[in-house]
Amino acid sequence: MIRIDLHSKVFPWLIISAVLLTLAEGAAKPKRCESPWRTFRSVCFMFADNNHQKFEDAQTICYKKGGFLASIRNSQEQGFLIKTIQGMGSSLARVRWLIGLYQYDETDNRAYRWLDGSVSSFRNWMPTQPNSVYERCTLLDGSNGYKWRDEICSNRALFICRKDLEKDGSMSCFKGHPPPQQIFEKKGVSVTECLEHCRGQGFPLAGSVPDKCFCLKPDNINALKEAERHECNGHCQNQHCGNNNFITIYNLTYYTDTAESCEDLSQLGLSNPSTYVTKSGEEEKLQNCFSDDGERKSLKTHRDNSFNR
Ligand SMILES: *[C@@H]1O[C@H](CO)[C@@H](O)[C@H](O)[C@H]1NC(C)=O
Repeated sequence: MIRIDLHSKVFPWLIISAVLLTLAEGAAKPKRCESPWRTFRSVCFMFADNNHQKFEDAQTICYKKGGFLASIRNSQEQGFLIKTIQGMGSSLARVRWLIGLYQYDETDNRAYRWLDGSVSSFRNWMPTQPNSVYERCTLLDGSNGYKWRDEICSNRALFICRKDLEKDGSMSCFKGHPPPQQIFEKKGVSVTECLEHCRGQGFPLAGSVPDKCFCLKPDNINALKEAERHECNGHCQNQHCGNNNFITIYNLTYYTDTAESCEDLSQLGLSNPSTYVTKSGEEEKLQNCFSDDGERKSLKTHRDNSFNR
């Protein structure tokens, strides 16, 4: 047995090194998503590998579990999903998985956006896809190199959910509405539009309820009481968007993807004249989009183009 002499000079050092060791371990051990979620960087993905659902029901399940039907925001995330599926065994090697990309405009089969509000323009369509305005949902197709195809939303498939590794993550639900600071009202304003509008105005938070978007600072929500996520379960053009009694608040630090141009934003259904953050390469800039000026310019290019034809 080791006798510890309380008067020795070694004893305090023992305690200090024990504390330091514990701290170092805490820092070195990366956080992981709890099972059955899989960890990739600061994101958790869950594969519903035994549960065929329609798009809306799949989204409801993901939402109840604290996430969204998955967005895939870059090729690294796509690569992680492929590798994970390939590790799941041969019975799942060639199946199709629903992801959180949907056609928001029923008349335009190129008008897709992510359910979780991301503006990522990463796409991995098969060469012939999307090919139908009636197929408004998206499958990652294991029988076709994990490329994407559009699909009728009422058809069932396995599905993939996504949430942030951080407990609170990119969105939370609050009871009541904040004071109308920077409020942007527009019939059917989408979550994506609200997030990009507030980002362009330099706010760290965006709150949405149907037809309204609040650009907020942390102080603005101090008085609000956090509520259960499902209480914010209202629809804003298929995106989750609060309701009359509850507001969904999105933390913009979790939305690192930005559009590259006003055209990219217009592809996502945005049309409100405002300042937006766009990024080409690593360089972010503020850009006025959809103003009369911008419109005139794009009209002019349009005319020039038709002139050349
Ligand atoms: C937003 O997220 C960042 C990163 O996790 C966090 O530091 C910050 O406190 C969050 N802001 C609010 C108001 O929740």
